Amino acid sequence: MSKLLVINASSTPCEKSYTKGLTDLFLKYYQELNPHDEVIYLNLNNEKMAGITLTTANAVTYWNQEDAHKYIQQLKDVDKVVVTSPMNNFNISGLMKNYLDHVLLANETFSYKYSKKGEAIGLLPHLKVQIITTQGAPFGWYTWGNHTENLKGTWEFVGAKVNTPILLAGTKLPPLNQMSPSEAALTLEEQIKKGAREF
Ligand SMILES: Cc1cc2nc3c(=O)[nH]c(=O)nc-3n(C[C@H](O)[C@H](O)[C@H](O)COP(=O)(O)O)c2cc1C
Repeated sequence: MSKLLVINASSTPCEKSYTKGLTDLFLKYYQELNPHDEVIYLNLNNEKMAGITLTTANAVTYWNQEDAHKYIQQLKDVDKVVVTSPMNNFNISGLMKNYLDHVLLANETFSYKYSKKGEAIGLLPHLKVQIITTQGAPFGWYTWGNHTENLKGTWEFVGAKVNTPILLAGTKLPPLNQMSPSEAALTLEEQIKKGAREF
C-alpha cells in the first residue's frame, strides 16, 4: 500500500477548475488500479505557508517548523506525489511557488555536498511524481514560459522519479472553454489512463 499526496495549487474554485477536473479523472483511474492506497489531499489555498512569499522581513524565519519542516516531513513520509498547477503569467501558480520555496531547502530535500560542480544530489529519491498542468493557451505559444517543464525539472532536482507530465493546453479557447472541467479532462482520457497505469 502506497501513500499518495495530491497537491492542488489552483486558486480557481474546485468545481470550476480545469486542473482539478484533470486531477479527479487521473485519481479515478489510479484508485481503480490501487484501491488500498492512502490518498492525502493538500489544497494549498488552505495552507498559510502557501500565502507567504520570501521577503527581507521574513528571510530569517521563513523555513520554520510550521511552514517548512512540517511539509518537508510530509514529502519524506509519502511514496508518491501528484503535483498540479495551472499556468499563471507564464509560470507555475504563486501558491505552488510559495510551497516550493518552503520545501526546497538545502540539506533537507537536496544537497550540494559530494556532488560534481553545478550538480545537486536529490534527497527525495524514494518519491514518484505525476505532474498535472493546464494552461489557457495552446502549447508553445509562450516560448519563454513552460511551467510543466519547470515542475518536472524541479522535482527531478530533489531526486524524484517523474512520470511523463499530463498537460491540458488551450483551456481558454474553443472547444475546451465550452466544456466543463470534467468534459475537458476526457479529451486526454487515454493519456490519463496510461499515466495512472504507469504511476
Ligand atoms: C491570474 C491568471 C494568469 C494566467 N496566465 C496565463 C498564462 O500566462 N498563459 C496561459 O496560457 N494561461 C494563463 N491563464 C489561464 C489558465 O492557465 C487556465 O485558464 C488554466 O486552465 C486554469 O486552470 P484552473 O481552472 O485549474 O485554475 C491564467 C489564468 C489566471 C487566473
